[in-house]
Amino acid sequence: MKTLVLGAKGMLGQDLCPILENVGLFVIEADRENFDLLDFETTKEAIRRIKPNIIIHCAAYTNVEKAEEESELAKKINTDATQNIAIVANEIDATLIYISTDYVFDGEKTTPYTPQDKANPISVYGKTKFLGEEAVRKYCKKHYIARTSWLYGLYGKNFVETMLSLKDKEEIKVVDDRIGCPTWTVALSRGLISLIAGQKPYGTYHICSSDSTSWYEYAKEIFKLANEKVNLVPIKSEQYPQKAKRPKYSVMDNDNICPDWRVSLKEYFELRNSFKNIQ
Ligand SMILES: NC(=O)c1ccc[n+]([C@@H]2O[C@H](COP(=O)([O-])OP(=O)(O)OC[C@H]3O[C@@H](n4cnc5c(N)ncnc54)[C@H](OP(=O)(O)O)[C@@H]3O)[C@@H](O)[C@H]2O)c1
Repeated sequence: MKTLVLGAKGMLGQDLCPILENVGLFVIEADRENFDLLDFETTKEAIRRIKPNIIIHCAAYTNVEKAEEESELAKKINTDATQNIAIVANEIDATLIYISTDYVFDGEKTTPYTPQDKANPISVYGKTKFLGEEAVRKYCKKHYIARTSWLYGLYGKNFVETMLSLKDKEEIKVVDDRIGCPTWTVALSRGLISLIAGQKPYGTYHICSSDSTSWYEYAKEIFKLANEKVNLVPIKSEQYPQKAKRPKYSVMDNDNICPDWRVSLKEYFELRNSFKNIQ
């Protein structure tokens, strides 16, 4: 199976590609250096030429804060480029997997969001990703939309690494009133494989860790696993002003596709430590 990964040099892409290869897929990695997804014609031509059976679209404008100021660019990448990919995927009869986000929800619920729940994004990033989903649904028959959340991995800027970089501060303030599901890129990659290998019906899925936590409790677990004693101070979202609105509650019902977030985080630390030992 020829599998084209868009956004292969991103945080998810770098973990996903070798995992796909390990299960026997023939992987073609694409990122900005191969072709810029904003160049719609070149993108279409390249995809027609490669003619993959599966396209996993992980490329995105992911800076949630900056998207509030660069809404046009965020829309071009997350919505318009996605529509372009959906059209060409359908034309060549490929299966398209589009990675989406918990930020399509407004966070007003108090029980886990199911794929059937109505989306109501409250940030530019969330809106552009949701419009990307809509384009995939409209233009590509054979599609999976895989919503994930609070991603961390070895190859990108993320909450785990940000927390660890602050370990020598006198105090570290972390919000305790936003709840979600921290998800390891490797757990997500395994979940994506289970979609393809399990030949699940096309449609929308939530692929995030099981169980949920606040950013504060998540930070506590990170420092516990890192054996670091720090002064963590819980604060409310209002005390940490940000341009983009975030859902207060973005827990997603995941059908147990991924393990508990604590299990994955422990596995991540084991891998991270073995990496440090060989560097
Ligand atoms: N990170 C999270 O917490 C999170 C949560 C939920 C969902 N997601 C979704 O998960 C997916 C993967 O996220 P990630 O954290 O791996 O993001 P990432 O590290 O920012 O990777 C995104 C990749 O897309 C590439 N890209 C952006 N614009 C492009 C363009 N015009 N042409 C070609 N490539 C382009 C980026 O290249 P450059 O580096 O050159 O810009 C980067 O390599 C995204 O769809 C994201 O929306 C992420």
